[in-house]
Amino acid sequence: MKRIVSIILAAVMLCSTALVFTACGGSSSEKKELHMATNAFFEPYEYYKDKEIIGIDAEIAKAICDKLGYELVIDDMDFDAIITSVTSGKADFGMAGMTVTDERKKSVDFTDTYTTSTQVIIVPEKNSKVSKTDDLEKASIGVQLGTTGDIFVSDYKDAKIERFKKGADAVLALTKGKVDAVVIDKQPAEKFVKANEGIKILEEPFAEEEYAICLKKGSELTEKINGALKELKDDGTVQKIIDKYIGD
Ligand code: ARG
Repeated sequence: MKRIVSIILAAVMLCSTALVFTACGGSSSEKKELHMATNAFFEPYEYYKDKEIIGIDAEIAKAICDKLGYELVIDDMDFDAIITSVTSGKADFGMAGMTVTDERKKSVDFTDTYTTSTQVIIVPEKNSKVSKTDDLEKASIGVQLGTTGDIFVSDYKDAKIERFKKGADAVLALTKGKVDAVVIDKQPAEKFVKANEGIKILEEPFAEEEYAICLKKGSELTEKINGALKELKDDGTVQKIIDKYIGD
């Protein structure tokens, strides 16, 4: 009897050791991947080429991950889902040509900035109802939902604002005459104007915006990313990546 008991006991002990071992030892529970939340319809920052997501953000993120010894995994989602994905911990960081704003700072931390931009107005080349910023006040305006362009035009109480999931859909509405103007970041605007006939950018500069990576508040990754980012800025890598996609 005693013998049986001790055999069972030994077996139980062995099992639990094995359990503990796999649990802790699932060994590389030490994280090897970093998930980046983005909205990949924002050329030149992040966009699809065939099935791959490329662009300025994708390449800078990859360079940061290489430096820190992580594998980069890009999770594509709606722009207005990025911050929640980061605060909930589903993604490790968000990078999406995202502008640093005080409002966003209430829910996430931002790294140092890696580049700047401004909003611009895209209008039809001919017979445009909008020829200066003030004209937006009574216009119908297409924007990407949840972006700084959206926030900016939302101040115009008499404007009719159409919010789209993708910047490209706002531009499509413009080319079809369904909206009078689109307010969006400068570099994507330039790509849209190049790709579509009959639209142009108004030379009406808005305030400069800073792009940065967002992380969960208090994340210890922020400092590490800032370190890597500084090295990549100092050695010219960031500029090289930007030049590759923006050129001229
Ligand atoms: N810079 C703007 C913002 O932060 C627009 C960003 C849109 N990015 C994107 N990947 N769709 O609100």
